[in-house]
This record gives sequence, C-alpha cells and structure tokens, in this order.
Amino acid sequence: MNAVFDQMKKHRSIRKYQDRDVSDELLNSILEAGVMASSSGNMQSYSIIVTKDKTLREKMLGAHFNQSMVTEAPVLITFCADFHRMRLWLEASSAPMNFDNLMSFMIASIDATLVSQNIALAAESVGLGICYMGTTLASCDQIGDLLGCPSHVVPVVGFSLGYPDEAPEERKRLPLSSLVHHDTYKDYGPEEIKNVYSEREILGWKRYMAIPELRQMVEESGVENLAQVYTKLKYTRESHLEYSKTVSDYLLRSGFLHTV
Ligand SMILES: Cc1cc2nc3c(=O)[nH]c(=O)nc-3n(C[C@H](O)[C@H](O)[C@H](O)COP(=O)(O)O)c2cc1C
Repeated sequence: MNAVFDQMKKHRSIRKYQDRDVSDELLNSILEAGVMASSSGNMQSYSIIVTKDKTLREKMLGAHFNQSMVTEAPVLITFCADFHRMRLWLEASSAPMNFDNLMSFMIASIDATLVSQNIALAAESVGLGICYMGTTLASCDQIGDLLGCPSHVVPVVGFSLGYPDEAPEERKRLPLSSLVHHDTYKDYGPEEIKNVYSEREILGWKRYMAIPELRQMVEESGVENLAQVYTKLKYTRESHLEYSKTVSDYLLRSGFLHTV
C-alpha cells in the first residue's frame, strides 16, 4: 500500500550482524524520529541507554542469558521505565513527589515500549536490523545495576541493533481474524482454538525439529506438541515465577511500590 506498510511487513528479528559500526549520526537520526512516539501526558517517562562499549556489553552477556547478539551486534539499546528524571524536576519545582507506585511503573513501561518500537521501525527503514531481548526484564536487577540505574528507573525492554548478516524466513503470525474482535470480545470455542493454532502447531514444531539442539531438547524431555514446548521447555511456570520475583523485588527496591 505504501513504503511504511511494505517495510513493516518485511520485519524479521535479526540475531546475526555484520562487523560494521552504526555511525553516531545515523543513530541520532533514528533516535530523533523514534522519540516522536506518543507518551502518556507527553511526560516521556523513559530513558534510552545506548551501549556501544564492548567491555560493558561483555559484562551484560550473562544477564542476557549469553545471547551472542549482545556482544556481536555493534549496539545494544536498553529502554527503561523512568520517573527519576521527572521526579528530580518535581523536587526542584516544589511539586508533589508522585509517580512512586505501580500505575506509574506501568505508564512508564508503556512509554518505554512504544518508543522502543518506534526506534526499531526507524532503524529497519534504513536497512538496520534489531532483535528484542526479553532477558532485559527477566534480569532487570543485574542490568539496572550494570547500567547504573538510580531509583524509579527499571530496564523493561531492549534490543540488539546493527547491519543484518542473515535473512531469516518470515515467522508467520496467527490469523488476523483470531486477533481482532469487532465491537466486543468474542470468546473462542474448542474448534476455533484448534483452527487458530493449527498452522502454528505445524510450522513451530517443524522449526524446532529442524534445529539439532532444539530437536535434542524436545526428544530428551519427551514433549509431544508445540504447546508443551512453550510451557514445559521455553516458558516454564518455575522460570516465570522466578522472573516475577526479580521484577517485583526490583520494583520495591527502585521505589515503584510505594503504597501509603
Ligand atoms: C518482548 C520481546 C522479547 C523477546 N525476547 C527475545 C529473546 O530474548 N531472544 C530472541 O532471540 N528473540 C526474542 N524476541 C524476538 C521474538 O522471538 C520474535 O519477535 C518472534 O519470534 C517473531 O519473529 P520475528 O520478529 O522475526 O517476526 C523477543 C521479542 C519481544 C517482543
């Protein structure tokens, strides 16, 4: 339909990068476009931490579960929910020191996520590639410490950035009709659920079985289908409970859970 649509439809997560720097000039243009993202009350309650320093990225590798793109991409960007900056201004203006609660954290996380995706799209429009890393939130405590985040600043999303050195296949999405509800939420019956996931079951399973390490994991664990891969291997209840504790402890430490 237009160039923006075309580019959005060509999105692929990029995990392998050329050994080529992204110039500060280009990066600045991307960031300038990206910060035009909507933000709650135009407060821009986020910070964008651009990490090019390889030594620092090497230190961050473990927190990112050793995902090689952390050090192999030339740039790592961490988007933090941030009410610290605003609160410094409030203090200097004799204004009430608000924004120390869960709602504020949620607002700041939404702002951070929206700006991250705007920056991702701007980057992709000039031929760069990105890959989000959920490890940013799962290890927000370690990453926050390594990046020197003060109170009311929480790393929530992050991605690697650089010139792609791979051209991955498209990862199919669920049918649009299963994602969009008209007027009100239409719940799914058992047959519909089967249909929603039928293509995903086949393609996802095929993908796992084509990668030797993943195939071995599937075979050794005895999981039988893709839903079990998601819940018994990739995103176990135990792992998510552990990350939940990391996040809630960090929110408490960072001052976002003030309740009185
Ligand atoms: C919040 C978030 C966290 C993600 N975390 C990871 C990650 O830790 N490692 C990774 O390789 N991909 C990660 N991804 C990328 C997804 O796996 C990817 O977007 C999805 O499989 C669809 O593929 P595509 O982006 O190539 O279309 C993440 C994506 C999002 C949005």
